Amino acid sequence: MSDKVYIFDTTLRDGEQVPGCKLNTPEKVEIALQLEKLGVDIIEAGFPISSPGDFKSVAEICKAVNDPVVCGLSRAVMKDIEVAGDALKYAKRGRIHTGIGTSDLHVQFKLRTTREKIIERAVAAVTHAKRFVEDVEFYAEDAGRTENEFLARVVEAAIKAGATVVNIPDTTGYCLPGEYGAKIQYLKENVKNIHKAIISTHCHNDLGLATANSIAGVSHGARQIECTINGIGERAGNTSLEEVVMIMKQHPTLHLDTGINTPMLKSLSNLVSDRMGMVVQANKAIVGENAFAHSSGIHQDGVIKKRETYEIMDPADVGVDKSSIVLTARSGRAALAYRCKEIGINLTKKELDGAYPEFLKIADRKKEINDADLIVLMRRLGVAAAKNLTSIT
Ligand code: KIV
Ligand code: ZN
Repeated sequence: MSDKVYIFDTTLRDGEQVPGCKLNTPEKVEIALQLEKLGVDIIEAGFPISSPGDFKSVAEICKAVNDPVVCGLSRAVMKDIEVAGDALKYAKRGRIHTGIGTSDLHVQFKLRTTREKIIERAVAAVTHAKRFVEDVEFYAEDAGRTENEFLARVVEAAIKAGATVVNIPDTTGYCLPGEYGAKIQYLKENVKNIHKAIISTHCHNDLGLATANSIAGVSHGARQIECTINGIGERAGNTSLEEVVMIMKQHPTLHLDTGINTPMLKSLSNLVSDRMGMVVQANKAIVGENAFAHSSGIHQDGVIKKRETYEIMDPADVGVDKSSIVLTARSGRAALAYRCKEIGINLTKKELDGAYPEFLKIADRKKEINDADLIVLMRRLGVAAAKNLTSIT
């Protein structure tokens, strides 16, 4: 029996904080509708007080989607909360996400206040947000660098004031997975009303640990992950949605389930990349162009014999048509024969033996051999099956 982990998508809020990746309202609604089909539980649609455009986007997303909870961000500032409440008034299920910095750095240097005042402001913010929506999420900004004992006090006070979800952000991406997991466990064990709220992870990727930290979080009792498509977000980004979802799917021993419609992952990735004008790196896990591409001879030979020798996921499970065998100077005969067969040229053993050295000569000159190159080569070598092939894509 698996436990449900709620997927809180913040592509349209934290993700959209990427410099140069601003979206307009129709683009945000388009992405929100696809996120709904993907099956995310919560869509953080924006930060309503930040601009009239963001307010409008949150309101339009509330009207457009039916199933997911729509969430609006605010600081622990009364006016922010009121504007968020107003933007969410068309939501079938709305959530206000409010909070304040809790690390000593934030308390002393950013907010220039005391720990006691932070607790007061947290309680006041949650209490005020409850006037607009039942579902209030509290974030303790920079929780990753906040002393656990104080964090537990803030979280307990926020839950007492009515928070339904408590978000423990590793805002600066500083924590190690063991440390972040232990922080969640500490809260589970030391906050006496913790059973009344869901613990949420919100990890940034400054050290490349956002995914590992989120998984450590849910392994120690968190039941919501905040994440973005393609892992976009401030600086080095947020936890990547496709990564955490596939980790839980591929590791049944975690006994965690998200209910995400994973065959939509690749198309969502393409949509977000296209609308934000942000290219996904080729080696990005799950959705990068090379995530299911094999180019070395040893790997190609294995994959052709049995895909699972070098793949831990079925590409169809994430919406990728199939694994690809990329022909380069590192490819072997098996790969050459396989790719020729794919385009309709069944080579005999003799033809393959004759073609392979010629193929290597071209491959040494060109980085990658495409289908057109193959047909030209096979025709030059007089391979009968290549003569009848007319069009090349
Ligand atoms: O990284 C962070 O701390 C945030 C909060 C506003 C939730 O994005
Ligand atoms: Zn963040």
